[in-house]
Amino acid sequence: MRPIQIAPSILSADFGDLRADVAAMMEAGGDWVHIDVMDGHFVPNISFGAPIIKAIRSATPKLFDTHLMIAPADPYLKDFADAGSDLISVHVEAGPHIHRSLQAIRALGKKSGVVICPGTPASAVKPVIDMVDLVLVMSVNPGFGGQSFIPSALELVRDVRMIIGDRPVDLEIDGGVTPANAKEIVAAGANVLVAGSAAFKGGRSAFATNVAAIRAAAEAGHQ
Ligand code: DX5
Ligand code: ZN
Repeated sequence: MRPIQIAPSILSADFGDLRADVAAMMEAGGDWVHIDVMDGHFVPNISFGAPIIKAIRSATPKLFDTHLMIAPADPYLKDFADAGSDLISVHVEAGPHIHRSLQAIRALGKKSGVVICPGTPASAVKPVIDMVDLVLVMSVNPGFGGQSFIPSALELVRDVRMIIGDRPVDLEIDGGVTPANAKEIVAAGANVLVAGSAAFKGGRSAFATNVAAIRAAAEAGHQ
């Protein structure tokens, strides 16, 4: 099984002091920086664009995991690549040409990810499984932090795990992840855990404790 990665989502960070929050969270034990880009069209919320990624890039050398909740995605891939993303994920639901989007991400020299919403069958990632470094399974309907975990997402994780097989592909879960459900999520097959509210709650002095609690629960599910 691939190593556990904890990916705090900056959607829950202090936007008034974002660089410092990102640096603090990575020093507190976060492995990846999960960056939730929302356009108010594909999802019912607007978060931020490529300039913000550029502004926080120097906060940490750790992996920038850019989750594009935008439609269309293709016209903006280069902007997000140039801004400092290491991995760029696109939703299958964002348009008809997921194969082309993933080709474009790889052509930009970035790691590629494919994302499915809770209502999308795992089989949707099968045709592109050999073009990605990551499969992201949403365990909430995208657009907001602080939502509750959708239990049926566990079945999607198991199905995606089977599709990945022994390929070098990470399986990421995103939405409503807490220390209370991290063990069963990892046991189902996820190895990268996004956490927004569970990671950032209580402010900077709580970051290390929050991340350690999620990691401990995740490692308990890791065989
Ligand atoms: C939702 C985002 C998630 C969200 C996670 O659309 O993709 O990354 O920020 O936040 P929590 O962990 O609070 O559900
Ligand atoms: Zn996300």
